[in-house]
Amino acid sequence: MDYDLINAQLDALIHDEPHFLPNLCNASALLFDSLPDLNWAGFYLKILTDTSGKPNGKSELLLGPFQGKTACIRIPYGKGVCGTSAEQDKIQRVADVHLFPGHIACDSASASEIVIPLHARDGQVVGVLDLDSPVKDRFSPEDEEGLAVFARILEQHCDLHPLS
Ligand code: SME
Repeated sequence: MDYDLINAQLDALIHDEPHFLPNLCNASALLFDSLPDLNWAGFYLKILTDTSGKPNGKSELLLGPFQGKTACIRIPYGKGVCGTSAEQDKIQRVADVHLFPGHIACDSASASEIVIPLHARDGQVVGVLDLDSPVKDRFSPEDEEGLAVFARILEQHCDLHPLS
């Protein structure tokens, strides 16, 4: 996969716009269009309030811009692949989601998944990039490396911060 090209396209798409919302929308569309064998590509973003607008006291991820089937809206830190990646601030590359304890199945077709944490300028985790595939073991170390650069470009160009 030509991640140099994909990452150059991302840079061209977002470098004039600091707002995270359109940039994450275009980023998810770019990945969904460019990478074969995906059934979901998108973002979950850290939110500080619960559904009634009160501080939630614990960290949660809220569904952000994405391409693919409808997905679950809130994921607590530590839950599923996304919540684990956010809590541990660690990339999760899962060859078989059915073997991942607590995996959240938004689409029963998903077989493998990769999740990359996103950071604010102060270094705190503010969300994740999540890709799902219907193919087992779809994501290679090369995908991990290319997507980590993709995430760093987003961090550099978008004003990412927790949502309230
Ligand atoms: N599978 C994820 C949930 C999000 S969907 O894949 C879009 C998880 O276990 O965190």
